[in-house]
Amino acid sequence: VSLPGPFAERYGPWALVAGAGEGIGAAYADELAARGLSLALVDVAAAALEDTAARARARGADVRTLVADLADLHGLEAVAALASELDVGLLVYNAAVGLVGNFVEQSLEQSLLQLDVNCRGPLVLLHRLVPALRARGRGGIVLMSSASALRGAPLVATYAATKAWAYILGESLWEELGHDGIDVLAVLPGSTRTPGWLSSMPQTGTGTAMLMEPADVAREVLDTLGTQPSLIVGQANRDGQALLSSMDRADAVRMMGGVMREMYPEGRQADPTV
Ligand SMILES: NC(=O)c1ccc[n+]([C@@H]2O[C@H](COP(=O)([O-])OP(=O)(O)OC[C@H]3O[C@@H](n4cnc5c(N)ncnc54)[C@H](OP(=O)(O)O)[C@@H]3O)[C@@H](O)[C@H]2O)c1
Repeated sequence: VSLPGPFAERYGPWALVAGAGEGIGAAYADELAARGLSLALVDVAAAALEDTAARARARGADVRTLVADLADLHGLEAVAALASELDVGLLVYNAAVGLVGNFVEQSLEQSLLQLDVNCRGPLVLLHRLVPALRARGRGGIVLMSSASALRGAPLVATYAATKAWAYILGESLWEELGHDGIDVLAVLPGSTRTPGWLSSMPQTGTGTAMLMEPADVAREVLDTLGTQPSLIVGQANRDGQALLSSMDRADAVRMMGGVMREMYPEGRQADPTV
């Protein structure tokens, strides 16, 4: 059993993790339980959610779970209702949908699903949760962006644009809510070994050199919260992005197009589930 330390005092007693079933979200839950927080865990996948919850309980954490679809307004209101019953000091909006493919070959429904889960979801939960966070005068918010948010990202145009929204929203709120004692961090991971990443698995071996583990991402993010507005996760990713940012923008975007077409020779991921 972990005793609450400075992290739990600043961001506890409850953390809400939206999209906690698998991948980086499950790693956040593991790490937050290790830091002595109680957890409100939300996911659309009930079995994965229960696995995450069981691990947190085994660490001695108090855990509430909610199966909800973050693409659905009713689901979002159910999450807000759960949060209103608890003293939530930390919101981690982790869930996302990212589909690889030429923009014109994606259906409007696929594009709107990405917009709903990646943008509307956090927008609604921020509106519902921020007033209580401000009233208590301390807390934190983690919004998941992506390294793909930093410039045009061919074959993931809609996904990357939703992540640019999260990046700018997070940095903006870092300043605004900082005046209320709330730490906001926009997180830009590079490729991370998660079920989501594996399901859009590159069809070739390209693009896997700097792959990070979810636990390392979660630890670095939670260690960084409160110190800066945004974080490119991992030194190798920071170095890679610095190089890309030093390039002519058109060259950098074209180069990413080339890399993506090499990774996805058919112009899309092998078997999109949506
Ligand atoms: N992995 C990477 O390489 C990478 C890189 C850059 C940024 N990121 C960002 O990091 C975050 C986590 O990525 P990840 O790879 O860990 O994602 P993931 O493996 O797909 O996990 C996200 C979790 O959210 C859940 N979720 C998805 N849609 C949902 C919905 N409509 N309602 C409720 N829950 C939902 C997923 O459940 P299901 O499994 O049932 O869908 C899953 O448990 C995302 O915001 C992603 O954009 C990841």
